[in-house]
Amino acid sequence: MDKIIIKGGKSLKGSVRVSGAKNSALPLICATLLTSGAHRLKNVPSLKDIDTVEKLLTSLGAVIVRDGHLFEVDANNINCFEAPYDVVRTMRASVLVLGPLLARYGRAKVSLPGGCAIGARPINLHIKGLEALGAEIELEQGYLNARAKKLRGARIHLDVPTVGGTENLLMAATLAKGETILENAACEPEITDLAYALIGMGARIEGAGTDTIHIQGVDELYPLEFSVMPDRIEAGTFMVAAAMNRGDIRISGAVSEHLDALIAKLREAGVEIKEEDDVLRVKGPRKVESVNIKTRPFPGFPTDMQAQFMALMTMGRGTSVITENVFENRFMHVCEMQRMGANITIDGNTAIVQGVKRLKGAPVMATDLRASASLVLCGLAAENTTEVKRVYHLDRGYENLEEKFRQLGADICRVQE
Ligand code: UD1
Repeated sequence: MDKIIIKGGKSLKGSVRVSGAKNSALPLICATLLTSGAHRLKNVPSLKDIDTVEKLLTSLGAVIVRDGHLFEVDANNINCFEAPYDVVRTMRASVLVLGPLLARYGRAKVSLPGGCAIGARPINLHIKGLEALGAEIELEQGYLNARAKKLRGARIHLDVPTVGGTENLLMAATLAKGETILENAACEPEITDLAYALIGMGARIEGAGTDTIHIQGVDELYPLEFSVMPDRIEAGTFMVAAAMNRGDIRISGAVSEHLDALIAKLREAGVEIKEEDDVLRVKGPRKVESVNIKTRPFPGFPTDMQAQFMALMTMGRGTSVITENVFENRFMHVCEMQRMGANITIDGNTAIVQGVKRLKGAPVMATDLRASASLVLCGLAAENTTEVKRVYHLDRGYENLEEKFRQLGADICRVQE
């Protein structure tokens, strides 16, 4: 298994380009199941999760051709309607085939994902919403067996603004009969990206990006032709890296409005951030100020940046209170950061981070993607050498992470254990 070795303490300089967003590409690829024809998606990042969704769609009968970041899908001959446990447990986003398969074929069998490294993560709201659209869903041997003659529009109020749930229901409702209103919908930019793509396919959607989305079902959709939005979490990870290393870097391709909450908090911490055309210039301060954050659904502070921001706060001047409101168990990186000398205490969903002068390199490993990224960030700022194990988590969501950091002057490499 690969590991990443980092010799910390290098100041980061230069430019880096953000890849396409994993969390946008995954639902977009699933949306190709809504209709036949030749779908073309551009700016799809090369990631393990994209390989997984490719395998999943291929197992359903789709024919996929990839050329660099171009992803072409022919979904004419879908002849299987099942997302098996082995795939869903490695990538929860596999449940996003449920809405499109039900809408187009009236049937889908999808394994329940079970728990994961950051908490229980149920999909009850996906199920409740699809039932409201007329689907009959039964649980059999750990699988959801869903059937529907023809979905019909409904008013659906989501108890929490679930991102995946909003995406599944949005896709399903495009082909339902009549109007669907999604209330308390997620407002994440990835939802807006999906809605734009669906509109391009002929769907009638209004209000995406707000908490109420109106969808008028249509009889037919056309093939997808779309370019995936830039990855705001990747951009945010580079911003924090510059902040931790007195860096001066230019990040191109990022959309700053997607990063407002993070930018506000980084500025509070003393980081200089300027927008220069489509480039974000980020300069790290001599001394990082400690600030408090609370994760919230968009436009709040993203839970997917919590671990990386905590990495920054380990070297803050003072005390930072970090509250995780989205997931129940998302502090798995804390013990590893403590092994690097961080001073962090956890109380329920709150972490109290007392800044230390300098982190110390150590062998570390994490149980999820963003936690692993936060440990890379700690390693880049720490004294001596840090080894980050279980690199496969990073490969799920960061394209060429160590190459990009090397380009910025970091001493980082990947070796086989
Ligand atoms: C997506 C992102 C993930 C991000 C998360 C929150 C993808 C592929 N993944 O995950 O990176 O961290 O949004 O921004 O886009 N919930 C329920 N019932 C449900 C669904 C969700 O109670 O049916 C709860 C979850 O347990 C969690 C909260 O809602 O506490 C948010 O989850 P959700 O927005 O659904 O996250 P994902 O779509 O899984």
